[in-house]
Amino acid sequence: MPRYSTKNDKSQSQDCLIIPLFEDKLTPPDQFGDLVANAVKTKDFEGKKGQAIFLYTGNKVISRVLLLGLGKRKDFKLRSWKQIIGTAVISCQGKKAEKIGLVIPGDVGEFVDTKVLAKSTVVAIETANYSFDEHKSHEDAIVKSLKSVEFILDKKNWRVWNKGVEEGVIIGGAVNFTRHLGNTTPSTMTPTFLAGEAQRIVKKNSKLKIKVLAYPEIKRLGMGCFLGVAQGSSEEPKFIIVEYYGTTKSQKPTVLVGKGVTFDSGGLSLKPDPYMCNMKFDMLGGATVLGILDAVSKLGLKKNVIALIPACENMPGGKAYRPDDILINMEGKSVLVDNTDAEGRLILCDALSYAKRFKPKEVVDFATLTGSCFVALGNERSGLFSPEDKIVEKLLSSSETVGEQLWRLPMGEEYSEAMKCEIADIRNAGGVGERRYGGASTAAAFLQFFTLDKDGNSEYPWAHIDLSCSFYVGKGKPYIRGGANGFGVESLVEYLS
Ligand code: BES
Ligand code: MG
Ligand code: ZN
Repeated sequence: MPRYSTKNDKSQSQDCLIIPLFEDKLTPPDQFGDLVANAVKTKDFEGKKGQAIFLYTGNKVISRVLLLGLGKRKDFKLRSWKQIIGTAVISCQGKKAEKIGLVIPGDVGEFVDTKVLAKSTVVAIETANYSFDEHKSHEDAIVKSLKSVEFILDKKNWRVWNKGVEEGVIIGGAVNFTRHLGNTTPSTMTPTFLAGEAQRIVKKNSKLKIKVLAYPEIKRLGMGCFLGVAQGSSEEPKFIIVEYYGTTKSQKPTVLVGKGVTFDSGGLSLKPDPYMCNMKFDMLGGATVLGILDAVSKLGLKKNVIALIPACENMPGGKAYRPDDILINMEGKSVLVDNTDAEGRLILCDALSYAKRFKPKEVVDFATLTGSCFVALGNERSGLFSPEDKIVEKLLSSSETVGEQLWRLPMGEEYSEAMKCEIADIRNAGGVGERRYGGASTAAAFLQFFTLDKDGNSEYPWAHIDLSCSFYVGKGKPYIRGGANGFGVESLVEYLS
């Protein structure tokens, strides 16, 4: 992690000074006025959004300047700002620059709160700085982490800015923690290993408590759906419970549930060749809620938050569960297995039932649940499902604030109808009309069934976030390297703040 500091002059020694400029306000800081004016005169730099050019000063103190285009002032968006800053960090690393300065344009404060800007800027720097390098044998391929970042801005904003930086370091660290868990190879990232990682964050904070339930306890609780999925693997399942009490225990907790399938082969309904790749990421729902708890506890938020992570592998071993099996959930609800690849909902349904023990204020689950959600939204948005407008509005506005993208998708009777079944209470895969159409919504309908009591009344306000493919950056983008991207951590920390 780089060392952060705040300055109001630009003459510190740096490998690169980054100067973002708006298209309609191309006035650089005095020190490099001529240099920038020349780039503007030749039209090599016009301040258009995403434009980036290096200038060489011939000066020993600051040898390079990186001009960044921010586009028009009226179109300023935090999401683009973060991408522009991330891109600048990765470009600087390409030049082996380790000490960088960043000029904060005074007038961005017109569009966004200074603390939010500081926090988001640091998250963008931290996430761009992260690289999953532990398996590279060539020294040259290993990304050199930044050593220092100096923010150059008006002294009157320092106090608020520095507070934002402090929070950004915590949140950026949590996002990278989540990403790292996701990126870890699946033979290492077993349910037991994931539980160990949860234990590691808990040790660092006295407000966190952990319980890891092993097989006998899970069996005693009667989590038949979770155990059904787990039984095809030689890895023991774990049910991870992390509790954070930031305020009196009498305050109802927010319960966060995360899908922790450490590898999804599809089970006996085996995934065909290309679709099994990237299934190490199928535990990212679990990793996301651990990242959220890490940040929430380090920020000391005055909330009570509980994370529940059913963690197992979905494998086609000799003891594997089968299509046509009927599994019994911990509340006695029966599920016909239509497809063993629809395993996420089976492990989540026991966690959603277990959540009722905490009398939660609300429950939000995170899961890489359906290919359909990916087909519908692509990989820069996650699907949001909830029968309650209030929780939806709050989640949408929190994600908007931090520049993550959530999109509400429908729930409704037709989807619940599609999951009905003659020989059990519900089936684990169905579809509207043609099998599988509306798959993200039928999956949400399945989950919803387990948030209800026996009479069909909701036991707690609930929202489901389908991470579909939004958890992942394929080949990498200019502002973030490929692999898990930690989607959801920032939004939920904002939601709970
Ligand atoms: N983990 C997958 C969903 C997934 C697919 C996440 C691609 C990320 C990228 C999930 O367990 C799954 O296999 N879902 C099936 C459900 C179907 C069998 C009803 C799907 O979406 O195809
Ligand atoms: Mg699956
Ligand atoms: Zn899965």
